Amino acid sequence: MKRKLFIVIAAALCTLVFVFAGCSGTSGSELGDHGASQNGSGDAGNVLVAYFSCTGNTEGVAELIAEETGGTLFEIVPEAPYTDADLDYSDDDCRANREQNDPDARPAIASEAEDMASYDTVFVGYPIWWGDAPRIVQTFLENYDFSGKTVYTFSTSGSSSGSGAFNGLSREYPEIDFAENLHFTSSQLSSAEERVAEWIADIGVSVEKETDIYITVGNNRMRMRLEDNASARALVERLHDGNITLTMDDYGDMEKVGALGFDIVRSDSRITVGPGDVVLYLGNRLTIYYDVNTYTFTRLGHIDGVTTRGEMLELLGGAGEVTVTLSLEA
Ligand SMILES: Cc1cc2nc3c(=O)[nH]c(=O)nc-3n(C[C@H](O)[C@H](O)[C@H](O)COP(=O)(O)O)c2cc1C
Repeated sequence: MKRKLFIVIAAALCTLVFVFAGCSGTSGSELGDHGASQNGSGDAGNVLVAYFSCTGNTEGVAELIAEETGGTLFEIVPEAPYTDADLDYSDDDCRANREQNDPDARPAIASEAEDMASYDTVFVGYPIWWGDAPRIVQTFLENYDFSGKTVYTFSTSGSSSGSGAFNGLSREYPEIDFAENLHFTSSQLSSAEERVAEWIADIGVSVEKETDIYITVGNNRMRMRLEDNASARALVERLHDGNITLTMDDYGDMEKVGALGFDIVRSDSRITVGPGDVVLYLGNRLTIYYDVNTYTFTRLGHIDGVTTRGEMLELLGGAGEVTVTLSLEA
């Protein structure tokens, strides 16, 4: 109860400070203890942009950060969604307030971040709840191993600063390398696009996101537009070490299939594929479809411009065994 009173007073003071300061208290980003800015390095590896958002403010910022960095978006979805009544923080006993008052509350998360080990830089976004990060953010931080990763946070609020929440998380999780926080009060959200662009340029976090792989069969070089999934990223990662050549042959009068010679992470689901779709089968076989099939596997991408069986078969040189080379260079 004492803590609750303290929080209410602290939040009220925070708000007052903001009102009197003309809501300008967090115009810059907030450096953490580590202060690990990566100015100009641009070598942030794979980037994940994770966020929790109930009314869309933090989500909007997350989308801007993902766009600016080329990172992958991940929404922290609560197992039990927050209703309007749960978020009515004028009610002492609303769910959000009860959770914030209980240091041990760890609301369960329904969504799981795929292949977390592959990310070097993780952005974590959240709304400010009573000056702090919502407890579900702690669930997220405790669900994964952040060693070797740099973590940036971003936050939104009505008028409070984001530094209390950032410092709180840095204190609570000293093993995590928190770099800095970017905060928006509601009146600052209209300039989010420019501020996010400035911030990302300043901290130097961006990845050249490969969107294409080239597939060569005989004299035909095709461009495959990549899917946005962990398997496609893993294949790109392999191709950074050199081209991959494999032998592929027909199967079932619908595909050419061949062994990659190594396993990559699977993002399998039951899908229907058609002419031009390129698929990862069983985690270690590449399949190029020239007809339709429904199965549980992972779409890696689609050959640019191909829509019919005839077009795909012609590019593959017709029926029979072929040697296929995958590369990142056109
Ligand atoms: C339980 C709760 C507590 C809040 N506490 C604060 C606060 O201490 N200071 C503040 O300025 N805004 C506070 N807000 C407002 C939110 O931080 C703000 O609306 C935020 O932008 C919402 O983000 P979202 O749309 O991503 O959920 C609170 C909102 C809720 C639901």
